[in-house]
Amino acid sequence: MGRMHSEVYGALDGVNLVHLCDKERAAAEKIAVGHGAAVSTTLDELLADSSVDIVDICLPTDLHADATVKALEAGKHVICEKPMAIDIESADRMIAASKASGKRLMIAHCIRFWPEYEILENLTKSGQLGKLLSLNLTRYGAFPSWSSDNWLADEKRSGGGALDMHIHDTDYALYLLGTPDKAVSFGTDDHRGVSQIFTTMDFGGTVVHLEGGWNLPATAPFKMAFRAIFEKGAAIMDAGPLTVYEDGKDPVTPEIPKMVAKGAGGNLSDLGGYYYELKYFYDQLQSGAPLDRITPESSRLSLVTTLEEIRQVKEAR
Ligand SMILES: NC(=O)c1ccc[n+]([C@@H]2O[C@H](COP(=O)([O-])OP(=O)(O)OC[C@H]3O[C@@H](n4cnc5c(N)ncnc54)[C@H](O)[C@@H]3O)[C@@H](O)[C@H]2O)c1
Repeated sequence: MGRMHSEVYGALDGVNLVHLCDKERAAAEKIAVGHGAAVSTTLDELLADSSVDIVDICLPTDLHADATVKALEAGKHVICEKPMAIDIESADRMIAASKASGKRLMIAHCIRFWPEYEILENLTKSGQLGKLLSLNLTRYGAFPSWSSDNWLADEKRSGGGALDMHIHDTDYALYLLGTPDKAVSFGTDDHRGVSQIFTTMDFGGTVVHLEGGWNLPATAPFKMAFRAIFEKGAAIMDAGPLTVYEDGKDPVTPEIPKMVAKGAGGNLSDLGGYYYELKYFYDQLQSGAPLDRITPESSRLSLVTTLEEIRQVKEAR
């Protein structure tokens, strides 16, 4: 993710990537060279660099809270990858540190900024197709075996597939529809935690079914899809581009601009959602406007909700 974000910074006007930190110097150097950025192997060195005013944290999930708190206390604004933290106590420390320091904190829930999901948000909020009756959100992949020190395989560090991957869809459902009246989860778990999850939520009569996991065979393709059924139409992104179906009209396939990252593959090749989320963070900081599209409290709620989904799966096993 650090490499992906660095590609975005290369494409964003006004942002200079000035310092890269990774405990593996070579990993930081590989990215830094294209940006003329300094390199260090400890967060303390990076925080001592007075040219740094925003810290972007793309560390393993269990390290998010300590790094975020330290950076905020050092007077830097922080954008931190999702999930916010490994547990609620850590998320609370992050929120408290942001409040105490007066520095801003945003969690990078990129799906809120993903063009197709933004179109779905607009369709829902505008009422163009009437009330949203149901929404299926799907996210499946093979286990990501490339993480440093294989930290993703350690449930205590990553929270398993449900917390690492499925939280994207939980966060989006809550972002779109608020707090669910009811949520029921089933799933499967293995030595890496909850690896596949099925959750049904009810939001005042709008039913959302979320399904995802990271236990597909290694050769199977990643899949991110949704199907939204409204009173007067549907929006479907599944096995093809997003298409909007409206009663009495021809289906429309909105044009989605693609900004492809150099050398990236799979579902991570499109800078789109990552570009728009980082641009939003930077623009709001520049103008002093609130980060109201994605508050730390809303990211905390997504964490609380996903942890409850995981608890239900484990309890039922
Ligand atoms: N938004 C998304 O679509 C998305 C996709 C992938 C990952 N993520 C999130 O991004 C975060 C990072 O995931 P990743 O896949 O990039 O992991 P990764 O293992 O590929 O990268 C983590 C990097 O952190 C470095 N690191 C580890 N401990 C360190 C320390 N103490 N000090 C300095 N550097 C250290 C590692 O050397 C490695 O280069 C996770 O929270 C993950 O959930 C988000």
